[in-house]
Amino acid sequence: MFAKVFLTRQLPSQVMELLKPQVDLSYNTEDRVLSKTEIIEGLRGKKGLLCLLTDTIDAEVMDAAPDLKIIANYAVGFNNIDLAAAKARGIWVSNTPGVLTEATAELTMSLLLTTARRIVEADQFTRSGLWGGWGPLQYLGKEVHGSTLGIIGLGRIGKAVVKRARAFGMAIIYWNRTRLEIAEEKELGIRYFSKEEVLRQSDFVSLHLAYTAETHHLIDSAALAMMPTGSFLINTARGKIVDEKALVKALQSGHLGGAGLDVYEEEPRIHPALFQFPNVVLLPHLGSATLKTRTAMGLLAVENLLAGLQGNVPPNAVG
Ligand code: DGY
Repeated sequence: MFAKVFLTRQLPSQVMELLKPQVDLSYNTEDRVLSKTEIIEGLRGKKGLLCLLTDTIDAEVMDAAPDLKIIANYAVGFNNIDLAAAKARGIWVSNTPGVLTEATAELTMSLLLTTARRIVEADQFTRSGLWGGWGPLQYLGKEVHGSTLGIIGLGRIGKAVVKRARAFGMAIIYWNRTRLEIAEEKELGIRYFSKEEVLRQSDFVSLHLAYTAETHHLIDSAALAMMPTGSFLINTARGKIVDEKALVKALQSGHLGGAGLDVYEEEPRIHPALFQFPNVVLLPHLGSATLKTRTAMGLLAVENLLAGLQGNVPPNAVG
């Protein structure tokens, strides 16, 4: 008899095809986020849960399924899951590291280039039909080549951004909780500084940290004030790392030159003031959004799910 599994939203077809013959699957057939009540209903009597970063999985949800063995999160971040509650109930939690590194680094560079060179503004202007021809002062941006990129949080994704930024001729500095070996710093062509110094010296600051109690509002008004006038903030990590209200103020005052955001404090709600700034690019959390990556994430999540259901340690167990 197959183990009963609940999936909170449909995944790419290759993943669905892999999953369906191996478990007794119930899933949300509508392409929308389920409410907590719906997740609880769906999870009743199940042994496995395959869920998304948009699903809050807390003790109350876990208690709907006393036989729950594994919560396989379809994301590298797992701040949506109460790890302590899972541990107390003997439930494995897993994530999908590694497979989304390149896609997320690509999107980071896309945001960096788009904000620096004012691509969205210029595209809107061109489409407006108002363009009267080439002009020496039109849409002057910030040259990326020769600029300094400060990376806060140098894990897999941060390193993949380094490789791309080097190809664009950027000087790269970083801060990470644990400093890399000197040999690796040399190989990557990066220099280590304190977080404050990275903020002070960077034309672009890009965030690549996990969201935890320690990184909550790491970028607050004091941190933003340290960034040079006209500098840019790029966030493809987690929204709550940035104090969105403080960010709005730094943009309103003209202190920041712009921001490229893929994530927000209260997704899908976005601070309304952010919509007003032409120098801010807003994306709907697309870091891993390529078919290749979303499929790879699903295949990895299924591998973790099946391991947990079989009583084995999931290859990407967390907590
Ligand atoms: C993750 O996996 O944590 C990403 O945010 C998904 O895009």
